[in-house]
Amino acid sequence: MLKKVSKLNKGLCGSVEIPSDKSISHRAVMFASLACGKSVIKNFSNGADPQSSLSVFKSLGVQAEFIDKKTLEIISSGKLCATQKNLDCGNSGTTMRLVSGILAGQNFKSTLVGDDSLSKRPMKRIIDPLTLMGAKITSKDGHAPLTIAGANLQGIDYVSKLSSAQVKSCILLAGMNADGITTFTEPYLSRNHTELLLKYMGADIEVENTTVKIHKSELAPKTIEICGDISSAAFFIAAALIVPDSDIILKNVGLNPTRSGILDVAENMGADIEILDRRIISGEICGDIRVRYSNLKGCVIEKDLIPRLIDELPVIAVMAALADGETIVKDAQDLRNKESDRISTVVSQLQKIGADIDETPDGFVINGKRSLDGNAVVECFHDHRLAMSFYVAGLVCENPVSIDGFEWVDISFPEFERLMTGLCG
Ligand code: S3P
Repeated sequence: MLKKVSKLNKGLCGSVEIPSDKSISHRAVMFASLACGKSVIKNFSNGADPQSSLSVFKSLGVQAEFIDKKTLEIISSGKLCATQKNLDCGNSGTTMRLVSGILAGQNFKSTLVGDDSLSKRPMKRIIDPLTLMGAKITSKDGHAPLTIAGANLQGIDYVSKLSSAQVKSCILLAGMNADGITTFTEPYLSRNHTELLLKYMGADIEVENTTVKIHKSELAPKTIEICGDISSAAFFIAAALIVPDSDIILKNVGLNPTRSGILDVAENMGADIEILDRRIISGEICGDIRVRYSNLKGCVIEKDLIPRLIDELPVIAVMAALADGETIVKDAQDLRNKESDRISTVVSQLQKIGADIDETPDGFVINGKRSLDGNAVVECFHDHRLAMSFYVAGLVCENPVSIDGFEWVDISFPEFERLMTGLCG
C-alpha cells in the first residue's frame, strides 16, 4: 500500500493512550502458557507479532480466549503438547527466539517457521548456547526453519558478546527447564521484561548488574496488566518534537529504564519532555509523557545506550535529520539484523527525502538541516518501524512523501495512523 503523507500546517495537540507493549505481550502469553492454571492478561497487544506468539501456544495445546477486546484468558496445564503442524512465528524474531528456548527442553520435536524476513535473520546466536545446554536443533545454515528435538538440558554459564534480550530470554527460558543453574551475562543491559515477569510469576531468578541466574523453576498463574509500548510512543515523541507548536500527552507508557533510552537522548538533544504520574503495574514502571515542540541539537548515541533504544534508532534518525549540528550513532551494528538492515535502509531512504545522513559499519552520522525536501517514494522493506518513522518525517517535509508498504505498521501498531491523525486536529 502506498501512503502519501503531507506537511502539517499546525502543531500536534491533545492526548493519546499508547497501545500495549509488544515485548511484554509476547512474554505474558508465553509465561502464562507455562504456568499451571488460569492467568488473565489485561491490555494484550493486537499487533501481528504478539498474535503470532499466541497462535504458537494455542498450537501447543494451551487454551486461550479473549474475554473482551484486550483481555486474554489463558488456561494451561503447565505442560505443552506436541504438534505435527509447523509453528508459524510470522515476522516475529521475539517469538522464534524465545519459543526456541522453551521448546529445547520439551519431550517432543517441533518445527518453527517464519516469513521471508524472519527466515533471513540470524538464529546461530541462540542455536549455539542452546546446543551447549544439550539442545538438538537443526536449521538452514543458522536460519529458520528450526527443527528442535526436545532434550534434557544442563545449565550453563554463558557470557554473550551481544546485548540482546531475545538471546538472554531464550537462554533463561531454557534454563528454567534445565538441571543445575543457568547464568547469562551480557556486555550492556538489554531490556529486562523477562527477568521482571518471571520473578513476578514466581521463578527462582536473581539479577546482579548484567548477569542473570536462573534455577529450575515452575511458574504460578497470575493477572498480568500490560502498559503502553514506549517503542510505539517514540513515533509520537519524535513527531511532537519536530512539528512546530506541538504539545501532546502520551498516556500509560512503559518507562522501564532498560527501554527508555529515547527519553535520555531527547533530553540530551534539548527536548521539552515531562513525565507525569509515574506508577508501577505488574512490576513495570509506567507513566504519562508530555512532549512539546523543541529546538533539537545533535548528540552522540553509543555504548550502553544502544540496547536501551535499539528499536527507536530509525525515528531518532528522523529527529537528528532536523536537529542543529551532528548526531553520531555508533556501536549499533546489530541494527543490520533487524526486520531489515536498519543501517542501510534508514540511510538510503532518508537520503531520498533530502536528509544529510551517511552509513558507517556500526551506525550512521547525520548533519541536521532546517528542513527536508520530501518529494520522494520511500520503501519500507517489510519493516514496520521504517514505515512509521518515514510517516513522522513526512509530517515536516516541504513536499509530500509516499511510503511504499505502509501496511507493515500492523506488525506492531495497527492503530498508528488513526491515533496520529487524531492529534493532528
Ligand atoms: C526484543 C528485543 C530486541 C528488539 C526487539 C524486541 C524483545 O531485540 O529489537 O524488537 O522483545 O526481546 P534484540 O534482543 O535481538 O536486540
